[in-house]
Amino acid sequence: MSVNKEVKRITTNTLQKMKSNSEKISMITAYDYSFAGIFDAAGIDVILVGDSASNVMAGHETTLPITLDQMIYHASSVIRGVERCLVVVDLPFGSYQSNSKEALASAIRIMKETGAHSLKLEGGEEVLESINRIISAGIPVMGHLGLTPQSIYKFGTYTVRAKEEAEAEKLKNDALLLQQAGCFGLVLEKIPALLAKEVSESLIIPTIGIGAGKYCDGQVLVMHDMLGINTTFKPRFLRQYLNIGEQATIAVHRYITDIKSNDFPNDSEAY
Ligand code: KIV
Repeated sequence: MSVNKEVKRITTNTLQKMKSNSEKISMITAYDYSFAGIFDAAGIDVILVGDSASNVMAGHETTLPITLDQMIYHASSVIRGVERCLVVVDLPFGSYQSNSKEALASAIRIMKETGAHSLKLEGGEEVLESINRIISAGIPVMGHLGLTPQSIYKFGTYTVRAKEEAEAEKLKNDALLLQQAGCFGLVLEKIPALLAKEVSESLIIPTIGIGAGKYCDGQVLVMHDMLGINTTFKPRFLRQYLNIGEQATIAVHRYITDIKSNDFPNDSEAY
């Protein structure tokens, strides 16, 4: 594996160059200091402090309940753990949909209180005014199209989006609008691979796919899914690289046994 150590700090410009050089972009979610440090040292390009924290950290069924204060807590923890990668923070549901003024106020709070480098928000034309306002304030924004989990109650299911012509056309149009507005990148979630290919080829800015096939300019996975911490979520697009859930269970069983049998601590583990 080659990590480009020449790059001191990944910026939105670095991602742009990576797309121009056909170098794929690696992105993973993180929500705390320790894992952020591990991923950063491993050479990940981008850490997303996703509102998936609502699911994997807080145990909610959807991403809707997480608050701006809670995202700020997660993002500031992540920022303290990284030196090299770009950190993108999700604007949570309810912090930007009312109007562009509220969106900018939420964006400014995240940037000021966490030290994050950029933000992500879901949606296309509907949120364009907010995106314009945030970018005008000098804050880099990443878009998110396709399956947008903050709208789950509108969709009704987590199945693949934009399979039909009309929705695919809207997605392509939204992607162009987001690029024109100045977004530095775009997450494409759970859409057909060939649609993601068309969008990726039509844009100058990089696309980052999750369940969107191999033609995107980069890929993102939720850390709990790819590390096997969360073992119940097994969509087709997920590649699981570790089985931390099972290994942690085995370790904790051993720990309990050692305590109960008076094996832990032994004399060399005491003062
Ligand atoms: O919140 C999140 O983790 C995300 C990814 C699924 C892209 O938005």
